[in-house]
Amino acid sequence: MVRLRYPIPPASEITPKGVRVRRRHFLQQAGGLLLAAAAPGLSAAPAWQAGTADAVQSPFSTDEPLTDQAMAAGYNNFFEFGTGKEDPKRHAHRLRTSPWSVEISGEVDRPGHYTLEDILAPHGLEERIYRLRCVEGWSMVIPWLGFPLGDLLRRFEPTSRAGYVVFETLHDPEQMPGQRSRILDWPYREGLRIDEAMHPLTLLAVGMYGEVLPNQNGAPLRLVVPWKYGFKSIKSIVSIHLQEEQPIGSWEAQQPAEYGFYANVNPQVSHPRWRQATERRIGEGGRRRTEIFNGYGELVADLYAGMDLRRHF
Ligand code: MTE
Repeated sequence: MVRLRYPIPPASEITPKGVRVRRRHFLQQAGGLLLAAAAPGLSAAPAWQAGTADAVQSPFSTDEPLTDQAMAAGYNNFFEFGTGKEDPKRHAHRLRTSPWSVEISGEVDRPGHYTLEDILAPHGLEERIYRLRCVEGWSMVIPWLGFPLGDLLRRFEPTSRAGYVVFETLHDPEQMPGQRSRILDWPYREGLRIDEAMHPLTLLAVGMYGEVLPNQNGAPLRLVVPWKYGFKSIKSIVSIHLQEEQPIGSWEAQQPAEYGFYANVNPQVSHPRWRQATERRIGEGGRRRTEIFNGYGELVADLYAGMDLRRHF
């Protein structure tokens, strides 16, 4: 039986006391010192720099028991480090996460190359306990630390033509030996519709379990979209590009019959090679029924009103 590590306050009582992150240590690891952090023209709010705000507990958190931390960091999909579930933990130490920068490009008024420190500086940290449901039929419950992607995108002022957001992972076969084989057309690429990207559930994570993200979980910056299959939650992001047209993600490009653009968790729409009606929660015996939108339907179903979810899988 896994015990919750943190008490979860009711949504009405969100205070900066929810989670204590060892902030100084965290920041040094996550992005170096933030002294000269603010990029010209970007407003730098003091939360991270002043070291005053602890991570707040998000009202979007589930109260389900957490997956064991070692399992969450030891059973991964990160094909840049191999195809076995234990390969990422074994090999991801080769990834250098500092210095790190992210290119913001396309349909934004403030494109540019930003250091990780620029990216993080204005954002407070939230802990959100989200389910991650993999298309292969397993799931976990992870306390992520991060901030809403929408808050970041707004800083760069998307234009009215920004219909979709495309993310890319680092491409460097020296650090990521899995990229030497052609299992995917590297770099790993994923996309969201702009309203999905701006949805308050969509998180950019920099940590989990009160600590900096382990490399195998996508350090230093990854996406977490809890109502979609895990392959949408792209790791180790170096590029965020806004564009008018719907992009094609790496898995969709590889197997369009198996992986669609939307990839919303849906127990009624089977993957061609396996059913999606149930899942195995890592650490539990047996299987449990999978919920539509991974249980987040009340918050996100409106995004897909009128759409045929069998066609737009
Ligand atoms: N991001 C990159 N760059 N490369 C990958 O292979 N795998 C995806 C996603 N993000 C992947 C990725 C898949 S299939 C899943 S299920 C989740 O990461 C797994 O996240 P976790 O290892 O942190 O549980």
